[in-house]
Amino acid sequence: MGEQIIWENRDGVLVVTLNRASKLNALNRSLVSELGEVVHKLNFEADCRGLIITGAGEKAFAAGADISEFANYSGDEAALMARRGHEVFNEIENSAKPVIAAINGFALGGGLELAMACHLRICSANAKFGQPEASLGLIPGYGGTQRLVQLIGKGKAMEILLTGDMLSAPDAHRLGLVNQVVEQETLMDTAFEMMNKILSKGPVAIAKTIEAVNAYFDTKANGFEEEIKGFAHCFDTNDFKEGTNAFLEKRKPEFKGN
Ligand code: COA
Repeated sequence: MGEQIIWENRDGVLVVTLNRASKLNALNRSLVSELGEVVHKLNFEADCRGLIITGAGEKAFAAGADISEFANYSGDEAALMARRGHEVFNEIENSAKPVIAAINGFALGGGLELAMACHLRICSANAKFGQPEASLGLIPGYGGTQRLVQLIGKGKAMEILLTGDMLSAPDAHRLGLVNQVVEQETLMDTAFEMMNKILSKGPVAIAKTIEAVNAYFDTKANGFEEEIKGFAHCFDTNDFKEGTNAFLEKRKPEFKGN
């Protein structure tokens, strides 16, 4: 892996830092590919149980796709770029393991789109959010027109997309765009706290919950059917036996994820 991304496995939690602070962690093609490699690790390696994504420095999570890289792209090149981004972000969204964005500053354009692909978002009080693409004569290309509507509704999403206005952290929280706002010093601790809470639950249940919730937004799926299937699946797992036995025996469950 190159130097655009730093990652480490902290007791089963992968921590990924977008590492281009001098360019406000703008997402260039190689960074997106490196991120894709880490997401594969998450999805295929048993000792990776969750992922936290943050940005280097105190100013930005990511200030968008790298404008200097795509400035001279043709439409075909732009389509390739967008497809690769969609691939990686869809893998994040559909990961069976929890993914949290720890947003430490600007989350603009592709930066906000990346954060929105994560299952949960925690931000520092200085964070700012926006989809400024229209100012560049563009529209979002990494899912912003869809996930913003899904998260905050059409009216407010339209306003953000059409005006390019930035949202403050409290406004983003009020709209449900972020789950929690904290001081920058406590951002990573808060993200770990939330991650560890999730990881203390049954891993199969977590995976099936993500799948069922995502099915709501999948026009080809029936979310209610997915829920029934996921619910039934859980009954045939050791996690379910352990969870119910632990409750009845008044002890903490020890889930194995099977
Ligand atoms: N792509 C490429 N480079 C970017 C970038 C992006 N999306 N966002 C910031 N940078 C670079 C700047 O060019 C600058 O590089 P330089 O020091 O070599 O000139 C560096 O990051 C610092 O940014 P700067 O603009 O000087 O910081 P600022 O505090 O004055 O402004 C922003 C911060 C976020 C308001 C401003 O950087 C900005 O508007 N960025 C673009 C946001 C955007 O349109 N994103 C959507 C892209 S599709």
